[in-house]
Amino acid sequence: MTERLEDIAIKMVADGKGLLAADESTGTIKKRFDSINLESTETARRDYREMLFRSDDAMKKYISGVILYEETLFQRAADGTPFVDIIKAAGSLPGIKVDIGAKPMAFHPHEFITEGLDGLYERLRKYHEAGARFAKWRGVITIGEQRPSWGSIKANSQSLARYAALCQQADIVPIVEPEVLMDGEPGTHDIDRCAEVTQWVLQTVFADLFDARVNLEGMILKPNMIIDGKKARKASVEEVAEKTVKVLKATVPSAVPGIAFLSGGQSSEEATAHLSAMNSGYDLPWSLTYSYGRALQDTALKTWGGKQENVAAGQRAFTHRAAMNSLAAKGNWKQ
Ligand code: 13P
Repeated sequence: MTERLEDIAIKMVADGKGLLAADESTGTIKKRFDSINLESTETARRDYREMLFRSDDAMKKYISGVILYEETLFQRAADGTPFVDIIKAAGSLPGIKVDIGAKPMAFHPHEFITEGLDGLYERLRKYHEAGARFAKWRGVITIGEQRPSWGSIKANSQSLARYAALCQQADIVPIVEPEVLMDGEPGTHDIDRCAEVTQWVLQTVFADLFDARVNLEGMILKPNMIIDGKKARKASVEEVAEKTVKVLKATVPSAVPGIAFLSGGQSSEEATAHLSAMNSGYDLPWSLTYSYGRALQDTALKTWGGKQENVAAGQRAFTHRAAMNSLAAKGNWKQ
């Protein structure tokens, strides 16, 4: 029997659990490995991800699902066990990044359009057969002088909506990720500009999801928080929480079961503190949790450093961050 999309979506944002974004493309994981002076071979990528997925305590208690890159969905651990089986054995759901990247958008300098719609339905059927129960597509919006343009918002929003409809038709829960970048260039915009742009983007995305006949109860939103540009002043934790909740309440229908934030270049602790502040003190219609990449992995990656003898320490580092974010998802994290 096929599981209902609504039930999978609820499981993805279950109380005190969230998603591990481990779907770095081959180019992005190379950048992460460069930071620890490790060559990005298929074996190194496997060893690193095996360390994370075999962190049993973290996976069972705090990680409802893992977003994988295509290579990993079909990859096996060193002992031959498929990664998908390891994730499922921990009670977690395998998911898959299905876009093929944000490419420069024609006639829109410094703006991007995400590609990957052609043949997507067939790929989704294949991923479902391999065990994926949810997917991710990331659209990227940049802030700058005269940016974002309406053209880039509309094009990215329509792609997200088309992707989401195709996922649901293939019995896969779509994570809809329109990311307003904090760490792009010039990165000097303030928190209010981020709020204004994010509100515009989310309003457009939900209008397009409606037009595409997407079932809101069977999807998860993955937005950025409302935050200053990376090179601007830093708003307080309370201000980030208040402005993020305000924008989300103005734009996200309560039929959406959950919102799982990206960390987007925030430090691990900032991402935890912001999430916890939103979950304590606000009356919210949706579950608010994490779908962090860097904020869950950074310390684990550095602790591991590519060395077999550091696997247990790397797993402890990952488990610690996951535990802190789990507390934050319940509004219980304290510095
Ligand atoms: P970060 O949390 O590192 O932003 O990654 C999340 C993600 O999936 C971006 O697409």
